Amino acid sequence: MKPSNLSFGLFVMSLAFTASSVTAQVLSDTEQLGKSIFFDKSLSIEQNQSCASCHGSEVGWTGPIQEINEQGSVYEGSISSQFGDRKPPSSAYATQSPIFHVDRKGLFVGGNFWDGRATGEKLGNPAADQAQGPFLNPVEQALPDSACVVYRVCDGGYGGPFKEVWGDDTCEITWPSDVETTCSTKGSTVNLSHADRAKSDSAYDQVALSIASYESSAEVNAFSSKYDLSYTGKVKLTQQERQGQALFRGKGKCHLCHISNGKGALFTDYTFDNLGTPKNPENPVYDINPDFVDPGLGGFLKQAGYDEEVYEAEWGKQKVPTLRNVDKRPYSEFVKAYGHNGYFKSLKSIVHFYNTRDVKPSCESFNIVDATEVVALEYDCWPNPEVTMNVNTNELGNLGLTSAEEDAIVTFMKTLSDGYVSTP
Ligand code: HEC
Ligand code: HEC
Repeated sequence: MKPSNLSFGLFVMSLAFTASSVTAQVLSDTEQLGKSIFFDKSLSIEQNQSCASCHGSEVGWTGPIQEINEQGSVYEGSISSQFGDRKPPSSAYATQSPIFHVDRKGLFVGGNFWDGRATGEKLGNPAADQAQGPFLNPVEQALPDSACVVYRVCDGGYGGPFKEVWGDDTCEITWPSDVETTCSTKGSTVNLSHADRAKSDSAYDQVALSIASYESSAEVNAFSSKYDLSYTGKVKLTQQERQGQALFRGKGKCHLCHISNGKGALFTDYTFDNLGTPKNPENPVYDINPDFVDPGLGGFLKQAGYDEEVYEAEWGKQKVPTLRNVDKRPYSEFVKAYGHNGYFKSLKSIVHFYNTRDVKPSCESFNIVDATEVVALEYDCWPNPEVTMNVNTNELGNLGLTSAEEDAIVTFMKTLSDGYVSTP
């Protein structure tokens, strides 16, 4: 460890020590380690981006920047002007997703990412598989080699705790003298012996497992919303909230996909559906690829080598997201984005879409193309779906809800934010 890193290390450790006095009962050593990694900006090529940059706890572990949510909803990577094409889903409650599989009804279920492609087959948990992606994704943290993550973790302020959790020899890797330069250079590979490469690979798995451990901790999957507390008898939902809950389970049909069975409900069945969500014309992907269409699960299955008839039936389907923390925001006017591409900017408008998708005229019939949500609401129309295949018309599109009933469903969703403090 170089002197400059040593003082930084001590600083981080003392911070961790202060923090642990608050969270000690809650976080195990592995969870605390995962937390340090989750919030570490040095684990990106420009040392400017951590997992939390796109998954902020103050907004329910999704995108924390209002200006981005209001438009394309896609977050810039560590390298400026590098973008993906989807909105960050919540990283909380993701560890609860089962390993990607086909269920008895023949439906694809589980995995992480909107398209399920982090299957969980490698490390035994989709969230752990997922955690290995962002560090190396060129439009995210963009490090050139997984060994760079291991190097910076071992060399960082929590290298000690890393060794304590995973064994003293995990970091005993002989790093080449130019490792710093290599790790700041796009497309390069750290030069390691065969044995050190194997060690680094297993340490990289341990990094991912540490993150998944934090992601499944009581700090992240808190189950501390008003909804949860209503099952302990400590808090009572208001009349409107209860009306919303009844509509959510009944006339609104939300419960058919966002399963809400009492205490500990996750508000998803981890299946995939095409809601007919319009394309978000402000998605930065169109600057590079004007013809982009998000294939969702179908795209993943195609790439994974499934037969055409299998993947075509799944084209355009996205994973049902949890609705926990869906309204969590730092202040009431803060704008969040909803759906895989962030087309919707409020809970009211997405509920209105479920309710009226098949009732209102299509914006295209007024010659309005690429209508944003603002334009669609102004002209009282909805754009055509981004993907027209496989749109679900059985469970949504014409629910016959009144505006007051839409509001009640929204009010119910607001009870799903963790960290509820009852005001006497
Ligand atoms: C530049 C923004 C960005 C960064 C940095 C980032 N993510 Fe994400 N994250 C996303 C996006 C976008 C998706 C969805 C991508 C997709 O579905 O193809 C996602 C998906 C996820 C999911 C899947 C959730 C689910 O329900 O399927 C998890 C978990 C997650 N990220 C955790 C992490 C962790 C851990 C890190 C750090 C190692 C990280 N993210 C870094 C943007 C980011
Ligand atoms: C047929 C299954 C299904 C039904 C029924 C359903 N949803 Fe969804 N929900 C989904 C899927 C799939 C997505 C992601 C869609 C996308 O990204 O295009 C989603 C997304 C959402 C989101 C955005 C969450 C986020 O983090 O971006 C909200 C909010 C939501 N649904 C609420 C509801 C409500 C309220 C109802 C009932 C009125 C409902 N859903 C009914 C499957 C369903």
